[in-house]
Amino acid sequence: MKQNLSVKIGKLRLKNPVMVASGTFGYVEEFASLIDLKKLGAIVTKTITLKPKKGNPPPRTVETAAGMLNAIGLENPGINVFIKEKLPLLRKIGIPIIVSISADNDLEFIELTRILNKTSGVSAIELNLSCPNLGTSRMVSQLDKATYRVVKAVRAATKLTLITKLTPNVTDIGLIARAATAADTDAISLVNTFLAMSVDKDTRCPRLANITGGLSGPAIKPIALRMVWEVARTVYVPIIGMGGIMNTEDALEFIIAGATAVSVGTGNFVNPKLTIEIIDGIKKHLKQKNVKDIKTLIGSIKC
Ligand SMILES: Cc1cc2nc3c(=O)[nH]c(=O)nc-3n(C[C@H](O)[C@H](O)[C@H](O)COP(=O)(O)O)c2cc1C
Repeated sequence: MKQNLSVKIGKLRLKNPVMVASGTFGYVEEFASLIDLKKLGAIVTKTITLKPKKGNPPPRTVETAAGMLNAIGLENPGINVFIKEKLPLLRKIGIPIIVSISADNDLEFIELTRILNKTSGVSAIELNLSCPNLGTSRMVSQLDKATYRVVKAVRAATKLTLITKLTPNVTDIGLIARAATAADTDAISLVNTFLAMSVDKDTRCPRLANITGGLSGPAIKPIALRMVWEVARTVYVPIIGMGGIMNTEDALEFIIAGATAVSVGTGNFVNPKLTIEIIDGIKKHLKQKNVKDIKTLIGSIKC
């Protein structure tokens, strides 16, 4: 019996539900010689902005127990260089390419979207809403009204599949997810990193130059899983689940909790072949359990 691993996210058909998380796979150059990229369900690019960004000063990453902190600060070459220099290689792979974007205001989001609309090889847009909200120090996806406003504006500007990526740094993730779906997002991606910090006891200085950063990796998995489960119970759009996925079992937990697809982030740094191992592991699991179609596992949690 051949297992069916394909899933749908908006208009995208993924041949399997395993993708790479934004910012942890660059623009694939470093991974092209290590894995067969065609085998992935989809690739999400590092977040792109309208103008190039230098990012935060170093140190920008710190290892922690069961995870890592990062404060990269959205370093990227800007949309024009991305299209000219990075997209050609991505386009050649022949799998869905999801371009992650961030902006300082709604007009920039719309401008980025319009540019991507007319760029061949872009399959979908992921809105990274862990960016500051206009006029406040809060992130867009910490506020339901701001989330609605940005998603609505971008939705009106594109027919491409639209994915909204949420920060987990909120008290009610369901509220924000409902705002994004009310504004017609095609899918929700969660979680981004958890605000955190680390201090060196000898120098008494924060280990990150930015003082605070985002925690990712196995340390966040149980919280990420709970958030995916919570959102799956409150919205009907597909969810791309991530946060500390380090093996097949982790990926299956997210799918059973309600994720249609999963993304591997920090795990890529530990084992660049992890995504391929997870795809093979999911196939093996379905075979062992005599499950014909992965879709029957999605949200199949018994509770
Ligand atoms: C070094 C690093 C850079 C990241 N850069 C981005 C980014 O540019 N855009 C984004 O939406 N998320 C970014 N993330 C967050 C990941 O995409 C992912 O949401 C998060 O790390 C949780 O998954 P994980 O525990 O598997 O890493 C970054 C994470 C790391 C570790």
